[in-house]
Amino acid sequence: MRLVVSVEDAIRHYRLSDLSLFRAGYRALIGTGLESGRVLEVCCGHGDLSGWLASNHPQARVIAMDRSEDYVASARAKHGHLPNLELLVGDVLELSRFEPGSFDVVVGQATMHHLAHDLDRASRQFSRILKPGGRCVFIYEPLGHNPLFSAVRAAHFSFTSWPDECNLYERQIQAFAAHFTRYEFQPFNLFGYWAKALPNISLSRSIGELLARLDAGIFKAWPRSGKYAANFNVIYVR
Ligand SMILES: C[S@@+](CC[C@H](N)C(=O)[O-])C[C@H]1O[C@@H](n2cnc3c(N)ncnc32)[C@H](O)[C@@H]1O
Repeated sequence: MRLVVSVEDAIRHYRLSDLSLFRAGYRALIGTGLESGRVLEVCCGHGDLSGWLASNHPQARVIAMDRSEDYVASARAKHGHLPNLELLVGDVLELSRFEPGSFDVVVGQATMHHLAHDLDRASRQFSRILKPGGRCVFIYEPLGHNPLFSAVRAAHFSFTSWPDECNLYERQIQAFAAHFTRYEFQPFNLFGYWAKALPNISLSRSIGELLARLDAGIFKAWPRSGKYAANFNVIYVR
């Protein structure tokens, strides 16, 4: 499929340490047969992921929701011209406005951990609106088992005072699968995490890619090491 904006262009502005994660996440999304499907993006923020999906799939119907009126206003200003994109203000834990089995994909980016206080409800709601075989894709989530990364994050949160930031844990990822048939966990950033500290120049880009490849090799050779990664994507199949 020829994309209007390629995956590489869509992820270019993310940090070097996170490029392989976003690349895998976005490729997984466009590999889901979205050509004429229905997609719900939960917690869409400024709506860039939905804008990208809608412009690349003009026959698809993309609905994006966030509870923040300011974010949705910003998303409308940026992407409101796309005829196949609808931007809604609302709580994604309350989806009764949508019919059961009416979506092919539910996607959230940096989202699952914001719903950590009620993941069982999120799992039930997202599963209910998906068709059988539909996919719920979470991209760029923080994993909390590695004390080093947790310490760096705790220091970061103490400066930023973000109230609903938290890590996720293996048990929560498994429990979310209760309303799905199977799931695929994709860990990222073991050594690659430290590429966050590099300046965004081409040498750093090569180092970042090298570390990402090293991490991928480690996760493949020792699957249990994925638990100690800094971040993950996860794909649940209804
Ligand atoms: C870290 S931001 C991610 C935004 C966007 N997905 C991105 O990648 O830039 C988390 C977003 O979740 C939204 N959010 C948190 N809980 C929500 C809920 N229950 N319903 C709808 N939006 C929610 C917040 O308003 C915020 O925009």
